[in-house]
Amino acid sequence: MPITHAKTGTDPRVSLRYPDGSLIVRTKEIPWTPWGMPGTQFKLLHCDDASSLLVILLKVEPGTVAGVHKHFGAAHAYIVEGGFGYEHGEVFAGDYMVEAGGITHQPFTGPNGLILLGFMFGPIGGLAEDGSLAGVLDIEWHYQTAKANGAAGHIHRPSMAPAPALA
Ligand SMILES: [Fe+2]
Repeated sequence: MPITHAKTGTDPRVSLRYPDGSLIVRTKEIPWTPWGMPGTQFKLLHCDDASSLLVILLKVEPGTVAGVHKHFGAAHAYIVEGGFGYEHGEVFAGDYMVEAGGITHQPFTGPNGLILLGFMFGPIGGLAEDGSLAGVLDIEWHYQTAKANGAAGHIHRPSMAPAPALA
């Protein structure tokens, strides 16, 4: 997606990145990208390698049972649409929740599916049936997967590369 410096205007279709690190992301302009589990898609909104922070919009189709996964850090979420259930109960649109770091679980969505705004303080590990680690969804995975889908033009990772010139 195109990105521009604020001095070029405030086109509501264009994300803005400022020299001080401030960022405005026009989420409607970012395409959904398939996530790490069937029936799921995400939009990478922000990431910070230094603090292992990932911010995503996550959309899950109705009737999806997620793979068993482990959160290596806490995950916070605001439920935008729909909801899901897991071992601590069900959450619905308008709810805010915290999944504690270190937990392993298998959430599921109902007939309304789910869109959440998630803040992950560490990667997620997908587990095999024997409990072993089958894969990791970390910042690098989210960034490269979104980039391959043309959905990471607004992301700047100062620890990975020099800041690109701004128009
Ligand atoms: Fe989870």
